[in-house]
Amino acid sequence: MSHKSNVMLRNLILLSLIIPMIITCSTKSATLSKDKSTTNDLASNDFGKAAENYKKFCAGCHGEKMQAFVDRKWKYGKSTEEIYKSIAVGITDAGMPAYEAAFSKEEITDLVQFIQKGLENQSLFEGAQKLTSSTVKTNDYTIRLDTMVYGLEIPWGMDFDKAGNMYFVEKKGTFSIRKTDGSIVSITGLPNLKSVGQGGLMEVELHPNFEVNKRIYLGFTKPKDINGTENYTTAVVYGTLVGNKLTDLKEIFEAAEYSTSRHHFGHRLEFDKNGLLFISIGDRGKEKENPQDLTKYPGKIHRMNDDGSIPADNPFVNNPTAVKSIYSYGHRNPQGISIHPETGQIWDSEHGPRGGDEVNICLPGKNFGWPLASYGINYNGTTFTDKTEIEGMLNPEKVWIPSIAPSGTAFVRGDKYPKWKNDLMVGSLRFNYLSRCIIKDNKVVDEELLFKGVGRMRDVQIDKQGFLYIAVENPGAIYKLVPVK
Ligand code: HEC
Repeated sequence: MSHKSNVMLRNLILLSLIIPMIITCSTKSATLSKDKSTTNDLASNDFGKAAENYKKFCAGCHGEKMQAFVDRKWKYGKSTEEIYKSIAVGITDAGMPAYEAAFSKEEITDLVQFIQKGLENQSLFEGAQKLTSSTVKTNDYTIRLDTMVYGLEIPWGMDFDKAGNMYFVEKKGTFSIRKTDGSIVSITGLPNLKSVGQGGLMEVELHPNFEVNKRIYLGFTKPKDINGTENYTTAVVYGTLVGNKLTDLKEIFEAAEYSTSRHHFGHRLEFDKNGLLFISIGDRGKEKENPQDLTKYPGKIHRMNDDGSIPADNPFVNNPTAVKSIYSYGHRNPQGISIHPETGQIWDSEHGPRGGDEVNICLPGKNFGWPLASYGINYNGTTFTDKTEIEGMLNPEKVWIPSIAPSGTAFVRGDKYPKWKNDLMVGSLRFNYLSRCIIKDNKVVDEELLFKGVGRMRDVQIDKQGFLYIAVENPGAIYKLVPVK
């Protein structure tokens, strides 16, 4: 490592010592890092420091297990030269950082060999670390995972009507209904959307009065040609379901501005008890420009009426330059939002940078600090701020170190799991489990990890009968969590 990277490494070590100490005081998240079952991959000393470097620098995006990373559809090539190139110069448009400044040539070569060893071993690892039984004991319940849908690619969002029919979307751009009789129908009439990078068809939300008005909202990545180059943003439409078709589409939200960035779209939709629609939008990878600027849409939680008009009491309606739909700001990539069943407050889960994933209570008009204050550090190991809190900005209710890559969330209500009542369920994309954030007096006081190894978890939802559902990727499936006596 160069002198610069030595300093970087020292900062890193310091940070990794200090942060868990801070965190342990308020939450139990630090215990996660001690969980040996999530770490050991190939022997650490086989390829120089490659295993260690992978864990430190790559796992945040590619998963703790290099073995899981190599088990993918390779896009940029598996030869020594191609993997070297991917790591050294990055694939910046897709969100893969360049590492030639952070690592020496030898370190990159070690990483390449480490990854290639993983490719060779792939068959040995197949099936490892998977959930082996569909009945799982938790602290409070024995839960049977009933398969509702199987063989999907990436299911991203789901919702339920009162009769128990399940509405779900896949990233690649399909919208389907699983009827209570088990049949699956696909819905046509979708808006022009694009599955690209971290975006695609990401969310489906039924209107609170769906049984009467048949109105459905979709959140998606919208492409636009600007001077011959495809640009993207996040948009929201609603339509009326007639038969198996969404009709009379009306676009009510477009998170200007368009950009070529293919990551940090957000994005979730949620109605609160008053029928107001919340929309979470990621920073689009432009943390310096977007989250703190009230004239810009990205890096915010927005709130609107069901027809797209702005509620008169939105916090920035009287600010002449602000985007009027902004509800809270300073967010990075919120991929889960849920309304607390009792307080009615909106909670989000957001992807922080490495070591800075958060759960926040998004209060109106408040600043959540990104990127000025954060527990995390850059993916390439450099720090962007040494502040974890700033006067006037709100601190997270929970921080995950290491990052779990939190996705969809749901509060537990109803009577199906009384001991989990009002707890916040958060899916982990990185560690393949469901995190039960135990909440007392509006604070996250503890965490239980459920269904370890079930798969990259994209969403968790609760139906009108009070049953929880989880959506996982590769192979994509949706399971219903049925407590067994
Ligand atoms: C900030 C997130 C992020 C981090 C950190 C990261 N990557 Fe990536 N990486 C990506 C993305 C996104 C892609 C592109 C995936 C795609 O297009 O399918 C990618 C692609 C790659 C590819 C090409 C895979 C292929 O399909 O050909 C390699 C190799 C790779 N990464 C290795 C690494 C290594 C080694 C590290 C750590 C030194 C690392 N990455 C860290 C996000 C990341």
